[in-house]
Amino acid sequence: MLVAEPQPALSPRRSRRGEKPPGRPFVKWAGGKRAILPAILERLGPVQGRYFEPFVGGGAVFFALARRPGGLPKGAVLSDMNLRLVRTWWAIRDDLDAVASLLEEHQQRHSEDWFYRVREDVPDHKSHAEVAAWLIYLNKAGFNGLYRVNRKGVFNVPFGKRANPTVLDLPNLERDHQLLQGVDIAHQDFEETCLQAAEGDTVYFDPPYEPVQVSQTKSFTAYTEAGFGGADQERLARLALALKQRGVRVLLSNHDTPDLRELYPPPFEIETILVPRFVNRDGTKRGGVAEVLIR
Ligand SMILES: C[S@@+](CC[C@H](N)C(=O)[O-])C[C@H]1O[C@@H](n2cnc3c(N)ncnc32)[C@H](O)[C@@H]1O
Repeated sequence: MLVAEPQPALSPRRSRRGEKPPGRPFVKWAGGKRAILPAILERLGPVQGRYFEPFVGGGAVFFALARRPGGLPKGAVLSDMNLRLVRTWWAIRDDLDAVASLLEEHQQRHSEDWFYRVREDVPDHKSHAEVAAWLIYLNKAGFNGLYRVNRKGVFNVPFGKRANPTVLDLPNLERDHQLLQGVDIAHQDFEETCLQAAEGDTVYFDPPYEPVQVSQTKSFTAYTEAGFGGADQERLARLALALKQRGVRVLLSNHDTPDLRELYPPPFEIETILVPRFVNRDGTKRGGVAEVLIR
């Protein structure tokens, strides 16, 4: 028996590839949760209160929840510390026409030469729509959908060599835009985002996995300049416990390491899930990685 994917309530149009429903992430983001999405959705169950995703990245979990029939009835609060990414979220929510016409231009001009010209640009003084088109274009046309910048903020992922990447996926962006109406999106630290979470709300945490020593590395590869170290992981574990004590439902994903397990003693419940990791330049290192889901 074939079970159809739920159709979007507002937009009858489907994306060009046909089989995937619109309302998916507009960028591919390292640590994106596509592989373990069914496990996460099953554990989150119906979300009745407000939904918080303080490390939103590309938002695979948010979009999967929001596009379900009934969506997120009490709304959502999303945040991330990567300012260019957050400005992209703002532009998709508030200024889609401008983003779409800039992406159409990128689509038309797309070539290896054009990619390297766009890559040299540091767009921070420009509008949110221009930052969004810059980030989405480089993400679609760059190698493996990576986002990586050097210490001067210059994007340094090489050309992706895909002959015809879909730079402007309008049905998907339109659906994302609809799903984002009324959603709070902030550029701030996860702790600040969770100040608003109250009894009956749900928080899903997907923090950066490894502690990152930015200062000692030549080329900076973290999501944000501040990185995310052991002290941040401890701060997060304390926050998760405080939220639980306030009656907030908490789900957290991370890599399965002994240090991490120590941070979440009972009453937390830890489940191991084996997932393939695809975002790795070196094909031989794309093995399985154990992840944990913590409740
Ligand atoms: C593992 S990724 C999230 C991936 C996301 N679940 C997805 O589906 O794409 C972690 C995110 O946390 C963000 N981040 C890093 N430090 C942060 C902080 N202190 N507060 C909030 N977000 C932070 C990074 O910019 C990155 O986008």
